[in-house]
Amino acid sequence: MKRRKFIKNTAVASTAMVLPPFIDTERVPYFGNGVHNGWADQDSVAIWTRLTKNPELNAQGVPFIELTKEQQKSFADLSDVSILEKSQIPSNLRLEDMEGACPGTTGQVQLSYYPENDPADRHTLEWADVDASKNYTRQWKLTGLLPDTRYILELKSRKTKGAKGQNSIRGAFLTPPEATRPKDVSFAVVSCHDFNRRDHEDGHRIYPAMKRDNLDFLVHTGDIEYYDKRNPYAFTERLMRFKWDRIFALPYQRDFYSNTTCYFMKDDHDTLKDDAYPGTRYGAVSFDRGIEIFDKEQFPSNPKTYKTVRWGKDLQIWLLEGRNYRSKNTDPDGPDKHILGKEQREWLFKTIDSSDATFKVLISASPIIGPDRPKGKNDNHSNKAYQYEGDIIREFVNRHDNIYMCNGDRHWQYVSHIKDSNLWEFCSGAGSDSHAGGWNQDNVRPEHRFLRVKGGYLTVDVMHTDSKPQLVFKHRDVDGKVVHEEAFAS
Ligand SMILES: [Fe+2]
Repeated sequence: MKRRKFIKNTAVASTAMVLPPFIDTERVPYFGNGVHNGWADQDSVAIWTRLTKNPELNAQGVPFIELTKEQQKSFADLSDVSILEKSQIPSNLRLEDMEGACPGTTGQVQLSYYPENDPADRHTLEWADVDASKNYTRQWKLTGLLPDTRYILELKSRKTKGAKGQNSIRGAFLTPPEATRPKDVSFAVVSCHDFNRRDHEDGHRIYPAMKRDNLDFLVHTGDIEYYDKRNPYAFTERLMRFKWDRIFALPYQRDFYSNTTCYFMKDDHDTLKDDAYPGTRYGAVSFDRGIEIFDKEQFPSNPKTYKTVRWGKDLQIWLLEGRNYRSKNTDPDGPDKHILGKEQREWLFKTIDSSDATFKVLISASPIIGPDRPKGKNDNHSNKAYQYEGDIIREFVNRHDNIYMCNGDRHWQYVSHIKDSNLWEFCSGAGSDSHAGGWNQDNVRPEHRFLRVKGGYLTVDVMHTDSKPQLVFKHRDVDGKVVHEEAFAS
């Protein structure tokens, strides 16, 4: 067996040569990012994985070179990839020598899946190459699944056909129950994380906390990483991928996402940059490429990036797309300016009108009610810049009963309710305390039922007492402790 001697890399920029961490060459390739799922409904799901050169991220890697504010600004307007990458990586080092690197590699993957309670109903798919042009990822769409069933995933990897060494991992997901089935359901809503602001070496503390909550599913409302924040500023596609490879190699994240049904939404920072809209660029990357990298490469794909899913008799959720169809933020507000766009808005209103679910929960990346900071924000439905479409949505929602809105984006937790209306909005807040901010704790507005400028997440439970359904929203701190609760009967 060929073994490369492990050398602890405590290098700084001046170190002559840095070796990657220990590699057992007989067992490559690895699943350093685990397995992700997305878009689950009663009979289908999208599965995603990636092959990596090493089993773990490079914990001994070197931090990227810091840039001054002026440098960040001027580099964001450049498009020369080599200048942009050299500006943050010491000249004697490679990208895989940097802090948290988890480089990909070529190879083949085989996926098997079966219901946890019926292992004999096992499906094994053909070995398939990962796509080197898509960051060494591979996706499958599984169909013909059973509702309300926990499936086990088993993945094997090999370098080439006939290769001796193999690796394997397991994962799991749950399909939703049918629309006729009254069932207790529990899910979480999270937003706004990044590698640099994690609150534990192994990832964000909210992940082990949410594991203890025993959720049916998770909705990530976006800002899953921040391209336009330091260490490194992701001015190129390679640096963007580096950030995904790193955050999903964190043990807390990898374990949670491999084993939980998840719906991934995107927002501005994980599409391109702060308040990104069509036509904008960040360094060498266009807005359109940013969308492709998220929708088609780094996350489980679906033909449309908005969807409604029934989770039993009493719950229907709507996942809204907030970037792909938006106008330019700088356009004058009016009938032609929108975030959802005409097609998505018509679909939303039609599907809400025809729903017979007891409780309806709309999940949007960014706020529809707010309040948001009045100064400098022109990016969401609660801002003046999108008031026209915001008013149409708020007016429509207000005509319905038992409908609630959830969102991320804002880095503080809140519950807003407009007095004498059906308008309720629950914001998850950011995923760690160091990521929270942007609002003053003392600035409590009339619509605030709850306000907390700290990190954490939101859980939503459908519960049945004496066959009567109840919907309960709980804001939690980063360790899962409940800090606020609102309960609704139908
Ligand atoms: Fe954010």
